[in-house]
Amino acid sequence: MKITYLGHASLAIEANGKQIIVDPFITPNDLAKHIEFDQLQADYIVLTHAHQDHVYDVEALAKATEAIIISNAEIAAYYAAKGLNTHGMNTGGKYTFDFGTIKSTIAFHSSSFADGTYGGDPNGYIIESDGKRVYIAGDTALTNEMKLIPLTVGVLDLAILPIGDNFTMGAEDAAIAAEFVAAKHVLGYHYDTFPPITINHEEATQVFASKNIDLTLLAIGASLAV
Ligand code: NI
Ligand code: MN
Repeated sequence: MKITYLGHASLAIEANGKQIIVDPFITPNDLAKHIEFDQLQADYIVLTHAHQDHVYDVEALAKATEAIIISNAEIAAYYAAKGLNTHGMNTGGKYTFDFGTIKSTIAFHSSSFADGTYGGDPNGYIIESDGKRVYIAGDTALTNEMKLIPLTVGVLDLAILPIGDNFTMGAEDAAIAAEFVAAKHVLGYHYDTFPPITINHEEATQVFASKNIDLTLLAIGASLAV
């Protein structure tokens, strides 16, 4: 899998020849002005929850690409009512798509649309493709349930964890989360976009390094291979 950081909690994942966009919040993000939104390709759009900083660009992207939106059932119903293609799931469920499998995990957060519509429970996802396994935590606190992930799916090749604090885990809790999910490689996200989640990159990296966990912070638009 090739994972490109699109800023905030937005990711582009190339998996088995398919393009997956996660939580598109690109056009309102001043730090992501160099990302050419109109050039993004998507076969699927994966959504962790309904907050504006995760779904802002969903309708424009889904209309332009005819991508299938994968999310919890409430978010899927919200977009299906707007005529978009959706695949609803719910916490704990796994499904096989043409790029591999997605398993929906527990995330401890909240979830409502900007217009007040209930967004269901927030989720993380584990994507398995090309013989690799990546956990995308979504917006979440540190939770004991994360310990179930290695028990239920096995070894992770990468954990993508929020590290910005205030709305989600900060680096210290996220480093414990990495231990809970038994991940040695972490990609940090959900930081620096807004003043309350601006972090010191060196300090965050040190927090993980002290537990022998490697934290990657990608420049917006940069990629890593798993
Ligand atoms: Ni959120
Ligand atoms: Mn968020």
